[in-house]
Amino acid sequence: MDGFGKHCLMPRPDTASEDLVAELTSVVGAVHVLSDPEVRAPFEQDWTRRFGGPSLLVVRPGSTAEVAGVVRACASAQVPIIPQGGNTGLVGGGVPGPARSDTPAPVVLSTSRLTHLERVDRVAAQVTAGAGVPLARLQAAAAEAGLNFPVDLAARDSATVGGMVATNAGGLHVLRYGSMRTQVLGVEAVLASGEVISRLSGLVKDNTGYELSQLVVGSEGTLAIVTAARLRLVPRHDERVVALLGLPGTAEALDVLAILRGRVEGLQAAELFYQDGLELVCAHGGLAGPLALAWPAYLVVECAGLVDPSESMFEVLSELELPDAATAVATDASGQARLWAYRERHTEAISALGVPHKLDVTLPQSRLAEFEVAVRKVVADAAPDSRLVLFGHVGDGNLHVNVVGPDPDDETVDDAVLRLVADMHGSISAEHGVGRAKNRWLHLSRSQSELATMRAVKSALDPEGLLNPGVLFDTHG
Ligand code: FAD
Ligand code: MLT
Ligand code: ZN
Repeated sequence: MDGFGKHCLMPRPDTASEDLVAELTSVVGAVHVLSDPEVRAPFEQDWTRRFGGPSLLVVRPGSTAEVAGVVRACASAQVPIIPQGGNTGLVGGGVPGPARSDTPAPVVLSTSRLTHLERVDRVAAQVTAGAGVPLARLQAAAAEAGLNFPVDLAARDSATVGGMVATNAGGLHVLRYGSMRTQVLGVEAVLASGEVISRLSGLVKDNTGYELSQLVVGSEGTLAIVTAARLRLVPRHDERVVALLGLPGTAEALDVLAILRGRVEGLQAAELFYQDGLELVCAHGGLAGPLALAWPAYLVVECAGLVDPSESMFEVLSELELPDAATAVATDASGQARLWAYRERHTEAISALGVPHKLDVTLPQSRLAEFEVAVRKVVADAAPDSRLVLFGHVGDGNLHVNVVGPDPDDETVDDAVLRLVADMHGSISAEHGVGRAKNRWLHLSRSQSELATMRAVKSALDPEGLLNPGVLFDTHG
């Protein structure tokens, strides 16, 4: 049992729930305490439809002080809290788990009202954003100030700053700018005790002990509730070129990537998908294919800078001597969006087939081609009648293994794929996090000493197991 397992919250009688409703109402106002099952329903199921469970209530605090009040009220009623942002997470971390007789139904704490966005500090190239600010709004504010927020992902209209901090979101530009962790200069967060830590000064240099903000990054709502973040911005690069290349396979895509890394300025995305995924996206979206011929693999690359990078891209592409039918290049925004759609629309197209088993993994880049062959065989053996769609961020070794067909509760294919990844010295979670989906396999990527240290941190910050029980650690396993 985990270090904090012995402190697991126990159910209380219904009168306690009534007291909690009254207490929460006094903190956030009646209109922001949602108890109607129909209103609660969208907060109780995740984006994939694979994970979810009943909540006691959904609450929507409007300030850091209100978040602290909600945390104190839930702590005193011994009711767990599930922090939730845009609910675009893909590992079930932002929704309740299945109902259990030995654990009270949790309160979902929605950050949808924490949408304060400060004016961009252009001198420091920084901005402070509330946890509930959607990524697209943050990106627009940065662009208006002549800067750029460098993390980008297809769920940009819904994914929030708080959720992205909590999951250490990656996305399309990790290759150039790193993941969310690299952009976070500090966070403001409410601890399980109801105390607030606030590290929003934006000081670039500050060596005064443990970096608490970075501890919260990637903690998936298990250590604290993020209420705001101070974020780094980078120059806005309006000169951009996008190329989509048809290739014989993964190994050739990696060869092209190696050449581009050394030869073009401002390489910021290198994304891979395969013919079956492209066909699925085209059928789902009613799109014509991008190239005159079909290819086994496709690489989408993007370069951006203050100076037009298209000349150097064309030069390198001509040296690669790819056939005409293997190359599409866009230098204008609408053409670029058209090429990106083939890659970005994979997630929705796969979901339209059924409830997917989504296994987001990283491999050493030198082993990606070998992994692609091996994972196809492993999936065919573990789930013979399933449909496998692979794609991902080849620029940072991250492949998304999507399997549709097995029952959502059948974990045979998850187990087989994650063990293969561990055998090949990869990580069972590249960017989506562990959530409820992968907590049983965390030991494949973390040593016993690391797990014990992580549990000690959890126990120190959340001794009662109030925040997101069942996420990251398998508390009931
Ligand atoms: P939620 O889903 O609400 O929550 C995610 C986790 O964070 C949960 O554990 C939750 O408890 C916790 N959490 C949320 N808010 C807070 C808070 N304020 N304080 C503490 N904990 C909190 N992810 C990538 O990394 N790269 C991608 O390229 C990418 N592309 C995507 C494309 C699509 C179409 C979709 C649907 C998802 C994609 N994702 C991607 C996954 C998802 O968008 C990210 O994980 C994102 O960071 C989740 O943000 P959210 O606000 O939706 O968080
Ligand atoms: C992506 O890269 O598009 C996302 O991580 C979403 C997914 O894995 O489906
Ligand atoms: Zn991704």
